[in-house]
Amino acid sequence: MPLHEFYTTPTLRLVVGPTASVDTDVLVLPVFAEAEATPLDLPDAVASVMVAMRASQELKGEPYEQHWLRNEAVAAGRILLLGVGPSTAVTPDLARRLGTAAGLATRSRGQARVAIVAGGALQGEPLVRALAEGVTLAAFHVDAYKTRDRKLATLQSAAIVVTAGGADSLADAVALGSVLGEAANVARAVAHEPPNVLTPAVLADRARALFAGTSVQVDVLDETQLHEKHMGMLLGVAQGSVNPPRLIVLTYDPANASANAPAKSTGPVLGLVGKAVTFDTGGISIKPAENMDKMKYDMCGGAAVLGAFHALARAGAPSRVIGVIPAVENMPSGAAFRPGDILTAASGLTVEITNTDAEGRLILGDALWYARQLGATHLVDIATLTGACAVALGRVASGLFGTPDDWRDVVQGAGTRGGDFLWPLPMTDDYKDLLKSDIADMVNAAGTRYGGAISAALFLKAFAGDLPWAHLDIAGTAWADEPKPYQPKGPTGVAVRTLIELARSSGSWA
Ligand code: BES
Ligand code: MN
Ligand code: ZN
Repeated sequence: MPLHEFYTTPTLRLVVGPTASVDTDVLVLPVFAEAEATPLDLPDAVASVMVAMRASQELKGEPYEQHWLRNEAVAAGRILLLGVGPSTAVTPDLARRLGTAAGLATRSRGQARVAIVAGGALQGEPLVRALAEGVTLAAFHVDAYKTRDRKLATLQSAAIVVTAGGADSLADAVALGSVLGEAANVARAVAHEPPNVLTPAVLADRARALFAGTSVQVDVLDETQLHEKHMGMLLGVAQGSVNPPRLIVLTYDPANASANAPAKSTGPVLGLVGKAVTFDTGGISIKPAENMDKMKYDMCGGAAVLGAFHALARAGAPSRVIGVIPAVENMPSGAAFRPGDILTAASGLTVEITNTDAEGRLILGDALWYARQLGATHLVDIATLTGACAVALGRVASGLFGTPDDWRDVVQGAGTRGGDFLWPLPMTDDYKDLLKSDIADMVNAAGTRYGGAISAALFLKAFAGDLPWAHLDIAGTAWADEPKPYQPKGPTGVAVRTLIELARSSGSWA
């Protein structure tokens, strides 16, 4: 199924003018916990309804609270009163979620056009951008494969409504919000594809199609080329599947993106490496049947890299960015690699396989090495790497590792600005015995479950050379199992924004 069937990006626009005259199906009025904090320019007829609802305690302004009204005094077909919470607690993260809640509520009412009033504490560029981003996220379809009984209408257009001021910069903020939201939807769309459809070769085709005619260059290494590069770890994982592996390489160069840039850019080269196991059965160390279907999302790291490049192609970045996506399927078969095998990495290190389910680190090790060969100066990898990380941090924060500390802090800062919650986990020398092997340079899986996210990170570090390197473990955060008003069940698009923010802010860290 083509990616565009998973999301229809609504046309986004900024409207400057009186709320009452906005032509839309749904007009969303944010309602703050404090009655006096809701100074939205409203016709008396609407304001008096709100005052009455407040008085009767029906309207409290709690986060995501929803009330639908119809009122002749506005041009909009209907009004959605959307609770915000205390005006002092408004952040871009909250604004993004409110934008998504507004868009999803509109779709669940069968409506196609939404307008969100950016008033009261929801003003200014960062919040307007976040609202635009959020409403774009709401356009993602989790039911694209349903042929009947679809619950949500398609969002055709969205407006952010301001009453006055700074229209140019606010229009830019709306446009950027749309780019960021769509980038996350690209990642979610790829992640949502079932594993019978999205094999490594199809993922590579998707990447080519996505960037055709853009400034992002796509190169794909096939099995023969991977053998030539001696990527023994990647090939070892792939050998059990009838679906052959691919290594997808993306290049964004500002020199290609604009006519007046220098012919060859100098400066930092950010290398983004994303795990794309299109299905992880565990291999010979096979997983239990329960929830194994979820392992189609074991390619969300690679999907996040694709999403990030989608935004770079549209919004640009000041320096070069390379994406490396190792794509394999991890299957048990007569041809599969086994516990006991010794694989030789492209870097030359030998690895004793103790568990074929610890496959992500193997393909990432060769991919990190390749990103260095391609000239990366700074590395970040993104992977649904360990159940242990989800045990440690739950479904809220993604695990963050890295060295040196100040590079890890840069990545964490990009996450905070972009809207991904990344939490550092330790990787000090005292942990390093976890991967000792008696017969090879190291084992792929530690002999203990304790510290499982840490031992996985330590394995990756061995392939990052001396470069600044960070690792995001998104096993717990890439997929939502519980729906929220601002996030349907399914792929979340986590880490996409961090990577975009990091690439676009290279001036501050290089
Ligand atoms: N893809 C899994 C990790 C995972 C688990 C992602 C749950 C999302 C949800 C990874 O390849 C894996 O199987 N890791 C093992 C490592 C172990 C064998 C050392 C794990 O976490 O159990
Ligand atoms: Mn696994
Ligand atoms: Zn895996």
